[in-house]
Amino acid sequence: MSVSVFAERLRNAMNSRELKQVDLVHAAERRGVKMGKSHISQYVAGKTMPREDVLLFLADELDVDANWLRGQSSETKLNSDAQPASHIDTPSGAPTSAETEIPAARRRTFGKSHKLDDVLYDVRGPVVDEAARMEQAGTHVLKLNIGNPAPFGFRTPDEVVYDMAQQLPETEGYSASKGLFSARKAIMQYAQLKNIPNVTIEDIYTGNGVSELINLSMSALLDSGDEVLVPSPDYPLWTACVNLAGGTAVHYLCDEKSDWYPDIDDMRKKITDRTVAIVLINPNNPTGALYPKEVLQQIVDLAREHQLMIFSDEIYDRLVMDGLEHISIASMAPDLFCVTFSGLSKSHMIAGYRVGWMILSGNKAIAKDYIEGINMLTNMRICSNVPAQSIVQTALGGHQSVHDYIVPGGRIHDQRDYIYDALNSIPGITAVKPKAAFYIFPKIDIKKFNVHDDEQFALDLLHDKRILITRGGGFNWHEPDHFRIVYLPRIEVLKDATNKLSDFLSYYWQS
Ligand SMILES: Cc1ncc(COP(=O)(O)O)c(C=O)c1O
Repeated sequence: MSVSVFAERLRNAMNSRELKQVDLVHAAERRGVKMGKSHISQYVAGKTMPREDVLLFLADELDVDANWLRGQSSETKLNSDAQPASHIDTPSGAPTSAETEIPAARRRTFGKSHKLDDVLYDVRGPVVDEAARMEQAGTHVLKLNIGNPAPFGFRTPDEVVYDMAQQLPETEGYSASKGLFSARKAIMQYAQLKNIPNVTIEDIYTGNGVSELINLSMSALLDSGDEVLVPSPDYPLWTACVNLAGGTAVHYLCDEKSDWYPDIDDMRKKITDRTVAIVLINPNNPTGALYPKEVLQQIVDLAREHQLMIFSDEIYDRLVMDGLEHISIASMAPDLFCVTFSGLSKSHMIAGYRVGWMILSGNKAIAKDYIEGINMLTNMRICSNVPAQSIVQTALGGHQSVHDYIVPGGRIHDQRDYIYDALNSIPGITAVKPKAAFYIFPKIDIKKFNVHDDEQFALDLLHDKRILITRGGGFNWHEPDHFRIVYLPRIEVLKDATNKLSDFLSYYWQS
């Protein structure tokens, strides 16, 4: 398969059918095929090849033979009376009788909801699709794009696995919708240790990861036009869930020059009479920042002044380095209504078990109706995974094995030091030292490399060096001058990656 032959044939077919890129994007929407504007422009420009299902969709939509489009020799080529290409919904390739009877232009197809128009989740986006295609073709790709500890040799504590196995026979049925008593009790005690005020067992909700609860908490809250302040850069699920729930995510800046702390003046400027809440991600993904008490105090003051709720995503709160302490903002705001999120995906290296929770605290009286909404949605999804809930007590009690990773000599600590030094020694790259989590968000000197498109930067790096990073735009960062690296791989691997990046940047000039 040749990318350039494919691109040329795609352009030919589009010209001959008088179809523009936007027509194909709309057709993909109608047919429920995952192919956005940036995908098709990459294909047309000869930068990437689509996955097989997208290729079959394109062949069908353009009424050309899929093998021809692939760049293989084929009898049928670009004939309007070509054999119908195999339809995306029939992996066997055999056209159904309905397909042979109904002309392609009149076939009913099913598209995704327009609610998803403003939803971005590049952590698994087009560059990742291209990496998957390269891997399918036998190329090894070094993935520095996703915060999943297990593939990098971070083992789940033995006790956690053992205890889940022991309890499996007793966790076959549904639990109470908020979760098992034992799990919620352990989370409640954890909230006490973090000085989160006014928390009873009824204020704890377990979820299938924090992800489910972010979605649920936004769905229960937002009406059309409601605004939520979300950081930029952010963990993009927050922006996605605010928009999906019908609200509007308004981004406040985090300032690289101040250790990536939230810019309080910018936050203040963005507050309107439609603002209902502030989202905080602390410790932060993608910057690795940890917010000190003074910064948290300013946010609490602002929320107090404008009567806003606070949502604080603290999933990395046990992955803090350099002897620093994580402070839950809810502990400083007993008079406000706060929702604090955490889970075991990162601190216990069990992202696949899907264990998350949220804690309602502070002034719950002002949020009675909202809490009713949360309860409705919690009941509707019945409960979170029960075997996973059964190990929350084990995980939160006793020796915290994650501690060994974050002190000098520990893997996360030493990998952080390594990546920070290595990146800053590359001409044209600068990075703030992360204090927590396992991400670093370096800045590219865009003038030096003529970078104007960060997705292209990520693709070029992938093609040239087989390294997969996530572009800054994927975190709702609005300049093309950043990318995120996950520094979970061992130092030898990071060394190889940064050497390759350094070599890449010694010649890179974006066209
Ligand atoms: C800031 C942040 N919040 C939430 C999540 C989702 O975590 P979970 O695995 O609990 O769904 C992630 C995952 O990377 C994250 O980085």
